Amino acid sequence: MVIDFAKIEQREAYGWMINSVGPRPIAWVSTLSASGITNLAPFSFFQAVSTNPPVLMFVPVNNRDGTKKDTLVNIESRKQFVVNLVSFKDSQVMNQSSMALPHEESEFEAFKIHSTPSLKVSPPRVSSAAVAFECVLHDVYPVGSNTNVVFGRIVSAYVDEAVLAGDGFPDPAKLDLVGRMGRDTYARTTERFDLGRP
Ligand SMILES: Cc1cc2nc3c(=O)[nH]c(=O)nc-3n(C[C@H](O)[C@H](O)[C@H](O)COP(=O)(O)O)c2cc1C
Repeated sequence: MVIDFAKIEQREAYGWMINSVGPRPIAWVSTLSASGITNLAPFSFFQAVSTNPPVLMFVPVNNRDGTKKDTLVNIESRKQFVVNLVSFKDSQVMNQSSMALPHEESEFEAFKIHSTPSLKVSPPRVSSAAVAFECVLHDVYPVGSNTNVVFGRIVSAYVDEAVLAGDGFPDPAKLDLVGRMGRDTYARTTERFDLGRP
């Protein structure tokens, strides 16, 4: 079959894309509001896009009522955020933190998620995350009327030394990251294979 994307509604495009493109990595993004309230939410439209400068991107889509998600509001205000990576042990609480809480409520407090102060940015990191990238806002690129791509330049990273391999970089097996697939399905990274570069 062929899907003519010129003829389908956004909801259907979402269904085809979200259930086909995967597994997607998950950015667990911590931010701080203008009044100092912490916020935490997962985003699976997420990728590393550049190493010079070192830049990550993720994509907050507006709420159904057209308002911006708290994460974007906070980033536009403070110009800083932390991308925490999600290991299997954190997957349940990561999912909980996707609940739409009022702007004045912190997911860290609501779900008793431990935070640790960051080194170079004001939003804290998730204490249990093995890797956390502290970012300053590089750019926000609007796509259509309800989507914004947020680019963040990494200024510092926390890395739990327990996940490092012999070469000093993270070992995928020790990181035990999860990925988002279609519907409510996630992927673990316990089954892996190597391919030598040709
Ligand atoms: C695994 C996972 C991935 C998600 N990915 C996205 C995403 O890429 N973009 C998005 O707008 N919302 C995504 N969401 C939904 C947001 O996490 C949710 O709307 C959250 O309430 C936003 O929080 P905030 O308003 O505090 O920013 C995802 C949820 C889950 C559980």
